[in-house]
Amino acid sequence: MDLNLKGKRALVTGGSRGIGREIVRALLAEGCTVATCARGADGLAAIEAEAAAMGGEVHGAALDVRDKSAFEAWFAAAVEQLGGLDIVVSNVSTRVTITGEEMWRETFETDLLQHVRLAELAVPALLKGESPALVFISSIAGVLTNLPPGEEAYGTMKAALVNYAGQLSARFGGKGLRVNTVSPGPIYFEGGVWDQIRTHQPALFESAARLSVLGRHGTAREVGDAVAFLASPLAGYITGANLRVDGGMVKTANF
Ligand SMILES: NC(=O)c1ccc[n+]([C@@H]2O[C@H](COP(=O)([O-])OP(=O)(O)OC[C@H]3O[C@@H](n4cnc5c(N)ncnc54)[C@H](OP(=O)(O)O)[C@@H]3O)[C@@H](O)[C@H]2O)c1
Repeated sequence: MDLNLKGKRALVTGGSRGIGREIVRALLAEGCTVATCARGADGLAAIEAEAAAMGGEVHGAALDVRDKSAFEAWFAAAVEQLGGLDIVVSNVSTRVTITGEEMWRETFETDLLQHVRLAELAVPALLKGESPALVFISSIAGVLTNLPPGEEAYGTMKAALVNYAGQLSARFGGKGLRVNTVSPGPIYFEGGVWDQIRTHQPALFESAARLSVLGRHGTAREVGDAVAFLASPLAGYITGANLRVDGGMVKTANF
C-alpha cells in the first residue's frame, strides 16, 4: 500500500537498531528522507549505507539524547539538513540496571523528559510541515501492574508518556498536528531485550509468547510498519490514539 509519504521529512530518535531501525526502514521504503541519532556511530553508518544503496537518504548523528545542548544542536541541524519537518518519532529508551532513586531519576530523564524535550522542539517545526505527525513509542508496560521491581519506573514513565501524547493531540489538533502513541508488547530481534531474556530467562521468554493471543513475540518490522501507517496521511483522522502492537497480550477492551 502506498502510504503517501513520498518526499516527507522525518526525524526518528534511536534509529540504529531494533524497533527504531525498522521505523527508519519503513519510512525510507515509503520514500521519506530520515534524520536519526544514537550514541553508537557504527549502527548509524550501517543504516546510512543501507539507505544509500536503495537510493534513499538517512542522516545519522552520534549523540546521547540526555545531553540537552547536544540534542538541541542536533535537532536544529537535522531540520536544516532535511529542509523542514513533517514526521517525528520519539523512540529512544534505555533499560537501566540501577535501582532506587537513581533508577527513577535516570528513567525519568530517558523515558519521559527527553521525549518532552523533543516534542517542545518538534511541535513548532512540525506545524510548518505538511500533514504533520508526531508518534511516541511507549510500551504495554505502561498498563501492566505486575512488572518486576527493575521495571517499575519504566512502566510508570511509559504510562505518563501516553497521557502526555494525548494532551499534545488535544492542544495541537486544531492546528493540523496529529499525535499518537504506539505501545509494543514483547518484540523479539537479535541482540534486543527479548533475545537476552531468551538466553537468561527462557521460561519468561516462552510465557510472553503464550500470553499473546497469536502465540508468538512480535517483530520490530511489525512495529515499524504500524508507526509508518500512523505517521502517514492514511491515518489522517487518527489522533490521540495509543495503538498496542502486542499480539493481543493485554486482554482488556481498548476503549
Ligand atoms: N523491544 C521490546 O520488546 C519493546 C517492548 C515495548 C516497548 N519498547 C519500546 O520501543 C522502543 C525501542 O526499543 P528497542 O527494544 O528497539 O530498544 P534498543 O534495542 O535498546 O534500541 C534503542 C535505540 O536507541 C538508541 N539509544 C538508546 N539510548 C540512547 C541515548 N541515551 N541517546 C541516544 N540514543 C540512544 C540505541 O542506540 P545506542 O545504544 O547506540 O545509543 C538504539 O538505536 C523503546 O521506547 C522501548 O521502550 C520495546
